[in-house]
Amino acid sequence: MAGERDHLRPNSGQPGDIRIAPSLLAADFGMLAEQVGEVAPSAEWLHVDVMDGHFVPNVSIGPPVVASLRRHTPLFFDCHLMMTEPGRYLEEFAEAGADGCTVHVEVGGSAGLIAQMRHLGLRTGLALNPDTPFEAVEPYLSQVDLVLCMTVFPGFGGQSFMGEVMDKVTQVRAAVDAGSLAVDIEVDGGIDVATAPLARRAGANVFVAGSAIFGHDRPWEAADAIRRSVLAGAE
Ligand code: DX5
Ligand code: ZN
Repeated sequence: MAGERDHLRPNSGQPGDIRIAPSLLAADFGMLAEQVGEVAPSAEWLHVDVMDGHFVPNVSIGPPVVASLRRHTPLFFDCHLMMTEPGRYLEEFAEAGADGCTVHVEVGGSAGLIAQMRHLGLRTGLALNPDTPFEAVEPYLSQVDLVLCMTVFPGFGGQSFMGEVMDKVTQVRAAVDAGSLAVDIEVDGGIDVATAPLARRAGANVFVAGSAIFGHDRPWEAADAIRRSVLAGAE
């Protein structure tokens, strides 16, 4: 018998499936394992924001935290590396238990970084800042598993969604579909029940949300609400 949460159940993980990815950045770092356990039944992925104090002004967490959390959950770890030199750390992230890593196209050397991630068996992503054009990622579309279109300038949680990025999401979606590519399109920054449907309509299928989920008393309900908003707004 179908339960009332059945349509909200995390899915099987085919490229293009809708995925909700709570961002750890907004969680209570003093009780990470508990917080992850709370959202896990309502999430496909856990988004891990890694900031090096150089590519972005902020410093967050690194491989030791990934390794510690790995012992507490089988959830897919989607590591967003906001780092000037991600290549120096990819192996450490893979060993720590990252499932996917996403590096920024702005740091250069994308072809080599993609090869390195593939060699390490990582699901491979390229991220674009809000002001970086679609053309920067276009040459790599057939080599990646994910394109992350930032909907805020990276560095901090709790910023406002930039609707103007939706044109780029539409461009990525058109190219992915035209090439029948198995590429997920992720949005990150200011995602909530109001903005996720806009990103869905533009073609995104992975929705990162930090403050909208962990800023909520019952974070699992907030994740479910975002999924519901995406499903309702998709028609
Ligand atoms: C921003 C990070 C985001 C951030 C999102 O630099 O990449 O993942 O945590 O946070 P919210 O959902 O609060 O905008
Ligand atoms: Zn992120």
